[in-house]
Amino acid sequence: MTTTEKIQLEKIADVEHEIFALLKQRYSPRIFKDKKISKNQLQQLFEAARWSASSNNLQPWRFLYAEKNTDTYNDILDCLSDFNKQWASNAPLLMLTAYKERTDQGKENFHALHDLGLCLGGMTVQAQYMGIGVHHMAGVDWKKAHKKFDIPEGFHVTTAVAIGHYGGDLDDLPTDLRDKEVATRKRIPQTEFAFEGSWGSTK
Ligand SMILES: Cc1cc2nc3c(=O)[nH]c(=O)nc-3n(C[C@H](O)[C@H](O)[C@H](O)COP(=O)(O)O)c2cc1C
Repeated sequence: MTTTEKIQLEKIADVEHEIFALLKQRYSPRIFKDKKISKNQLQQLFEAARWSASSNNLQPWRFLYAEKNTDTYNDILDCLSDFNKQWASNAPLLMLTAYKERTDQGKENFHALHDLGLCLGGMTVQAQYMGIGVHHMAGVDWKKAHKKFDIPEGFHVTTAVAIGHYGGDLDDLPTDLRDKEVATRKRIPQTEFAFEGSWGSTK
């Protein structure tokens, strides 16, 4: 068994109620196999995003992506926080995510951020089905990204995403991140976020 296979086994969610296997197995990797995401696989990932639900079917999600060893990839990497730079360069593909802020009629689309997140959720599960890990990143300098990529007004860069096949080597990470990579995945209990009838927590 390879190191990553061991990590993958240990990362399986310790669920309290049975759920879809892909949801249990998904985690956010910081190491990736040295293997390209093919054009066809990328089209499958975007197709999963494409068929997501969205408020008024406005489909406000937008993506800008690049393969490793290209100038655009390096430019996306350059927009990441120093913390994310430490590991994200292990990914064969980097992507910026953005949403369109207004409807074509100029009205603010209050739910655009929700819809971007929802479609990324679908893309992440599709990726998991294909043995591909998706690591979302809030640590991106969106102002820098807007400038660097000449993002038109009315669109907001939200996150960056590192995408690649599960695999790779723990040695590809600095020591402190190796510990994070093998750490058990934890969650708050349902009682802290799902309330029946009345609000159940002030946390
Ligand atoms: C919107 C969003 C932003 C995130 N930002 C970062 C980030 O900047 N850097 C990072 O290493 N992980 C980031 N993560 C990954 C989370 O830390 C991770 O999902 C969480 O710790 C749970 O771990 P798991 O995905 O392996 O279950 C982000 C995740 C999401 C959904």
